[in-house]
Amino acid sequence: MKVLFAVSECTPFAKSGGLADVAGALPKVLSRLGNDVAVIMPKYSQIPDPWKKRMKKTAECTVAVGWRQQYCGIDHLAEDGVNYYFIDNKYYFLRDSLYGHFDDGERFAYFSRAVLEAAEAVSFQADIIHTHDWHTAMVNYLLKEEYSKRPFYKQMKSVLTIHNLQFQGIFPPEVTHDLLGLDMSHFHYERLECNGFVNFMKAGILAADHVTTVSPTYRNEILTPYYGEQLEPVLQHREKDLTGILNGIDDSFYQTESDPYIEMHYDPERLDLKEENKTKLQRRMGLPERKDIPLISMVTRLTKQKGLDLVKRMMHELLEERDIQLIVLGTGEREFEDYFRYIEFAFHDKCRAYIGFDEPLAHQIYAGSDLFLMPSKFEPCGLGQMIALQYGAIPIVRETGGLYDTVRSYREEEGTGNGFTFSAFNAHDLKFTIERALSFYRQKDVWKSIMKTAMNADYSWKQSAKQYQRIFEHVTRSGRDVLE
Ligand code: GLC
Repeated sequence: MKVLFAVSECTPFAKSGGLADVAGALPKVLSRLGNDVAVIMPKYSQIPDPWKKRMKKTAECTVAVGWRQQYCGIDHLAEDGVNYYFIDNKYYFLRDSLYGHFDDGERFAYFSRAVLEAAEAVSFQADIIHTHDWHTAMVNYLLKEEYSKRPFYKQMKSVLTIHNLQFQGIFPPEVTHDLLGLDMSHFHYERLECNGFVNFMKAGILAADHVTTVSPTYRNEILTPYYGEQLEPVLQHREKDLTGILNGIDDSFYQTESDPYIEMHYDPERLDLKEENKTKLQRRMGLPERKDIPLISMVTRLTKQKGLDLVKRMMHELLEERDIQLIVLGTGEREFEDYFRYIEFAFHDKCRAYIGFDEPLAHQIYAGSDLFLMPSKFEPCGLGQMIALQYGAIPIVRETGGLYDTVRSYREEEGTGNGFTFSAFNAHDLKFTIERALSFYRQKDVWKSIMKTAMNADYSWKQSAKQYQRIFEHVTRSGRDVLE
């Protein structure tokens, strides 16, 4: 099957979050399953030069943005069995960050049409166009409403994956005509319109042949008002065509036995070597080098979604009361960056906050820590907890979305579980759960068995990629089964 993966970010080219990791891993696995897979993304200025040097211009075309015609260069490179196409337009993509610009609506209206035009320009007649989040959701809509009327696109089906429903691409009504080039009849509640605005995500959800999201639990959560971000009626309408498929992690990149960023390679049978990674991490961070002290870590965007409000409410108390160490790596909202700078100052022998991002350090933190905190308010899938499990850093998570699907709380009666969980979004429940974990940390045999359970499970893409494959086969066979 020919699959065109349209996405706004993709490792190793450009990344702001977990979406890029998914886009970096899933296409390769789908290609190994025998599909002809192409990925198409913007050619951002942030793409590292060695990759830019390998790109070759293969085609060019023009793309309509309302009444204007904009240039669209198409660069190509092949890697690991996947063809990558980069949409080259310096006005839209030569910026100091991937997103967050006043004209993001225009940039991704342009990109969405560019995806469809480029497919024809490079003769990639896909069976499936697989889009991701609001940035490419208009591809699904434009395909259904406009391009499917042309012979080249007639047979194409589309699948939209929701990675985070919080961001929907909401713009004023004029965007319908001025940027998307559609007449105002499209500004209708059964199409683009949502609460008086154009909503790219909503349009994609309605137009896609199938909609997926990144865990079974988040799939059920977004059908409810608490998690639905006001799109729950639209999702309920597509409920029959909505599937939750858990993400995997790239097992060639996250592997304790061969990770190039960690000094001591280890596995479930050589856990003493993990302890050496801990000592090295303590040394690198300038913390007291102690094997017996529980080392808790967070590698995260510092945002409300990730439950930082809870951490901010209780961490001070925990650090005061307990003999623990805390290492935090990430960037995000000013409030939380400042908070961690402050607790690093206040508890200098216990806490280090690295406000920034550093890939090797992230790996060293997973390899060197005992416990990994992820108390998210909502979590479509979450990759951090899976990497932590793989690396034997036992996760403490809130029971939501993909966290609920991957972390099972330890039960002492049966000796089962791979982490510690709590359900209410409450700071003291988090604190109590950390204290519960610490009590088992002291029982060395119990702790080892939890680590082994965590490390021995399979977090790879193998099963999930097959589920995507089944959905692609289903939609190409039967097309839309609801709505029409
Ligand atoms: C988003 C979600 C995260 C998910 C990732 C990849 O970043 O917030 O939960 O793991 O997308 O699907």
